[in-house]
Amino acid sequence: MDYPIYEHDVLVIGAGGAGLRAAIAASAMGCRVGLVCKSLLGKAHTVMAEGGIAAALGNVDARDNWEVHFADTMRGGQYLNNWRMAEIHAKEAPERVRELEAWGAVFDRTKDGRILQRHFGGHKYPRLAHVGDRTGLEMIRTLQDHGIHQGIDVHMECTIIRLLKDGDRVVGAFGYYRERGQFVVFHAKAVVLATGGVGKAYKITSNSWEYTGDGHALAYEAGAELVDMEFVQFHPTGMVWPPSVRGILVTEGVRGEGGVLRNALGKRFMFDDIPEAYRNSTADNEEEGFLYVLGEKYQGRDARRPPELLTRDHVARCIVREIREGRGSPHGGVFLELQTFCDWLARRRPGLNKADYIRKKLPSMYHQFKQLGGIDITTEAMEVGPTVHYIMGGVRVDGDTQMSTVPGLFAAGEVAGGMHGANRLGGNSLSDLLVFGKRAGEYAARFAKEHAAGQLPRDQIEETARWALSFIDHPQGDENPFQVQYDLQETMQNLVGIVRREEEMLRALEELERLRERYRRVRVVGNREYNPGWHTAMDLRNLLIVAEAITRSALERKESRGAQFREDFPTKREEFGKFNMVVRKGPDGSMQVRREPIPEMPDYLKRIIEQNK
Ligand code: FUM
Repeated sequence: MDYPIYEHDVLVIGAGGAGLRAAIAASAMGCRVGLVCKSLLGKAHTVMAEGGIAAALGNVDARDNWEVHFADTMRGGQYLNNWRMAEIHAKEAPERVRELEAWGAVFDRTKDGRILQRHFGGHKYPRLAHVGDRTGLEMIRTLQDHGIHQGIDVHMECTIIRLLKDGDRVVGAFGYYRERGQFVVFHAKAVVLATGGVGKAYKITSNSWEYTGDGHALAYEAGAELVDMEFVQFHPTGMVWPPSVRGILVTEGVRGEGGVLRNALGKRFMFDDIPEAYRNSTADNEEEGFLYVLGEKYQGRDARRPPELLTRDHVARCIVREIREGRGSPHGGVFLELQTFCDWLARRRPGLNKADYIRKKLPSMYHQFKQLGGIDITTEAMEVGPTVHYIMGGVRVDGDTQMSTVPGLFAAGEVAGGMHGANRLGGNSLSDLLVFGKRAGEYAARFAKEHAAGQLPRDQIEETARWALSFIDHPQGDENPFQVQYDLQETMQNLVGIVRREEEMLRALEELERLRERYRRVRVVGNREYNPGWHTAMDLRNLLIVAEAITRSALERKESRGAQFREDFPTKREEFGKFNMVVRKGPDGSMQVRREPIPEMPDYLKRIIEQNK
């Protein structure tokens, strides 16, 4: 074994918000921490949570508190959430945001100098602390600046391909440096997965190349369980034009600042379909919705949210309906525009400079559309459509400690499942990764202090190295890894997408079987030095695992709930509200799915939900 071996107490895999926060927490507890990033430090999908961090600070509306945030999160997740995680998240998010501010994050301000909060879908009060439309970026910058002084060892451009086990316990990880293709061994007492999501299993996604379900697949292969994998979030608004940038995120902050959706006939179609659970809290006319955006009263009482600020699952489905029924925009989306709101606002605030107002509130969106699409959003409508943004499903963890069912293996952020149930509310991811990143780091550190280092398993390392090298000049190989990945993305987009049907998903399973067979024949040319074909070949194993987990779980959930819409079972079914879908690798190597009953919620939480209906 002629590979470099790094020794750490805690190894954190993934350097987005959750990974950085976990590394900071473990290091603060006196641990030697290693932080592995698949690309360069600072390049993380966290930056794609643009519109804000949800935390019940109550700065803009003093009635907000953790109980309302908890109830909103559970309703948004259609009550499949791990309620303990939702409780911890709502309680601890405000402290994590203030801590970020203390570490240097420059939030937008209220007139009296407190952190400004904006509206987002499904949140009762303006709750999203934000930095224009660059909140995720500011979070990463702040955590990086803070983390840099903690003595954390950073391993950049390094991909992990196997978690190493000594008996039942995880004792490290094996990977390779992308640039030179060198293998590397990490020996650690505890490992935190913070690898983010699976967006690259789909064709249209806001995720970049790194998001190939690595953590999900590594955990699965190591014997951990995955939960709620059927719930893939299609963010309603990604760019649809030009084709080269299709899928790039258009923040929900646009709708939070008054943006309205229209179809090709100019109609505000979101008024057509308001779900029962939100009927009392949703406006039925333009004036009331706009007053809500400003946080003002309508006819003497609190204004209700505009329909564009319903939950993401619902908004995305309404957009798909418009497109399918022939009322879409020229490039297969719908229109999102700020002019109606700004004209209305200018009538109330004479002298308002509408273009300046938009550029100030949404600077990145302004530049993004100008530079990538040649569109001036201060005067023109954007064309938008759903894009895969997030997966609610992930590694099944203990709500308090974030430890998976495998000792020594922790998970935080998007790679961990449970917190968001069937649908995540916008802004709840940034707070999730701060709250649970910190917890994962602390509990991993505690685990590391309580356990001696395990034995490094040479056989696992050698076997994985042989597997990795087998792609290079594979003698019987006749498949191109990029082609297999492309076909997998087409399969998932077309057959396990935003609207699902049993026969299509069964076809997807057959197709995935064929893709697995083709995968065995993938051949990579060239050598190990910066070879993207070779990297893609290894990522493909992960994509195949997560694609199968999503499809099998979606088939098993014979109902429509949250992010899963089944055309063949178009309604919610009570019996399916009682369990989560859990996936694990069976003893024969096949994927097994079971229904796991949701533990009974304590009475005090039930009361909170009841009081905040
Ligand atoms: O729309 C957005 O800014 C995304 C936020 C999120 O996913 O939480």
